[in-house]
Amino acid sequence: MEPREEIERQKNYSEKVKELTKNKELTYTILTMGCQLNENDSEKLCGMIEEMGYTKSENPKQADLCVFNTCCVRENAEAKLFGKLGELKRAKEERGTIIAIGGCMMQEKHITDKIKESYPYTDIIFGTHTLHKFPEDLYQVLKKHQKQEDVLDIDGKIYEGLPIKRESKYKASVTIMNGCNNFCSYCIVPYVRGRERSRSPKDILQEIRKLAEEGYKEITLLGQNVNSYLRVEREKGIPTSEAEGVNSFATLLKAINKIEGIERIRFVSPHPKDFTDDVIEAISEGEKIAKLVHLPLQSGSTKLLKRMNRNYTKEQYLKLVQKMKERIPGVTFSTDIIVGFAGETEEDFENTLDVVKQVGFEQVYMFIYSRRVGTPGDKMPDQVPEEIKHKRFNRLKELVEKQIAVRNQEYIGTVQTVFVEGKSKTNDELLTGRTDSNKVVVFEGDESLIGQMIPLTITSEHMWYLTGKQEK
Ligand code: SAH
Ligand code: SF4
Ligand code: F3S
Repeated sequence: MEPREEIERQKNYSEKVKELTKNKELTYTILTMGCQLNENDSEKLCGMIEEMGYTKSENPKQADLCVFNTCCVRENAEAKLFGKLGELKRAKEERGTIIAIGGCMMQEKHITDKIKESYPYTDIIFGTHTLHKFPEDLYQVLKKHQKQEDVLDIDGKIYEGLPIKRESKYKASVTIMNGCNNFCSYCIVPYVRGRERSRSPKDILQEIRKLAEEGYKEITLLGQNVNSYLRVEREKGIPTSEAEGVNSFATLLKAINKIEGIERIRFVSPHPKDFTDDVIEAISEGEKIAKLVHLPLQSGSTKLLKRMNRNYTKEQYLKLVQKMKERIPGVTFSTDIIVGFAGETEEDFENTLDVVKQVGFEQVYMFIYSRRVGTPGDKMPDQVPEEIKHKRFNRLKELVEKQIAVRNQEYIGTVQTVFVEGKSKTNDELLTGRTDSNKVVVFEGDESLIGQMIPLTITSEHMWYLTGKQEK
């Protein structure tokens, strides 16, 4: 069935569920366990669920529908999910709470088997390629009391036009591509999200224009490898509806930069191997494009990068950083690093520390290597003992924190353009926002500033946030 027809079919189911839930004042909760793509999927789930007549509540034990949107990139999410499912057993018995589990982890057979065996009271299991069918799955449970297992192994199509309930009124994420073709040897994502496929330029630009009209100021473009946007389509000659000359990631950035009302553009994650000069030029020239580049390193050792199937060397990574420092005034970097991948020696790890020292990242997201069933990394013989992984992780953390403290000092006294996001979570009297380089800034100001870009002078630093003040 064509995506458009399928979405119409789901709208019908949505109407049917609405009939069933009418006047019942039903509530739902959702727990989002993964990355920004997973969060974006959750916003779509919330959109669908609210259209069916449910309202959001914060208490899973009181809700009529509990949804889990899972992640499987590292192991710790598994224990968390199973713990939460155990906690819901009583709510299920007492209130008949409908339990639905979706997302990346549901694409793993050993996990769905375990759920069916140990948590048989789960009503709906859905995967990453069947998210749009949630209305149908819910209808079958409500009307026919049938459990639903709706997981597809083949790559899903791209479904446009799903309802979406966004978390913020000012900043929005926009998925520009699904899946991944890179098969980094440690990573499960390509197995659970399928092959890389890009949304059409027309659909993306339309979505962003609409967001701008609704008052959104900051857009984050999402994908596992954003700078290979439209590459597969180009290579295979798959037609995509052309719009405004967009045929690559660089041209997409340029087109979005022109959209009136959008004031800041971010994107995650680009891959170092695909960072072409046209993208560097687009960032440098696009006045709305944030000058913080998230450039996942993973390891600083060429030997390890090869084993990880990352397709770049330590030197190529450093050269790329150097080139961007020369061509993009004010550029800053953040990164992802995995510690303790199979075969990592002390020398390999020191190369990672060396890159961190040379680049001077604004932020480093650090992960201890977690073996994922079905990936090549899991089968490599020379796994690093847990104890060594933890020791190295702590050494990296220490270096990163020292560096961040030094970099934070450099902010003091400077004027930063801050996008004001809302009230501070810890102090109602203060507002919080982010700099172009994604640093949190807390300051005193009037609520009317929320949703605006304003200049702030940085007055002090506190490791994970800066404080600022408005000039009179
Ligand atoms: N596509 C993105 C990020 C995907 S997952 C990219 O290539 O950068 C986000 C991060 O999780 C990765 O960058 C990596 O640092 C980390 N990660 C992925 N698999 C992991 C594993 N098996 N163990 C630990 N960290 C992992
Ligand atoms: Fe995973 Fe690599 Fe794809 Fe990122 S690029 S999602 S790390 S396989
Ligand atoms: Fe994201 Fe986790 Fe899936 S990182 S793509 S939610 S495995």
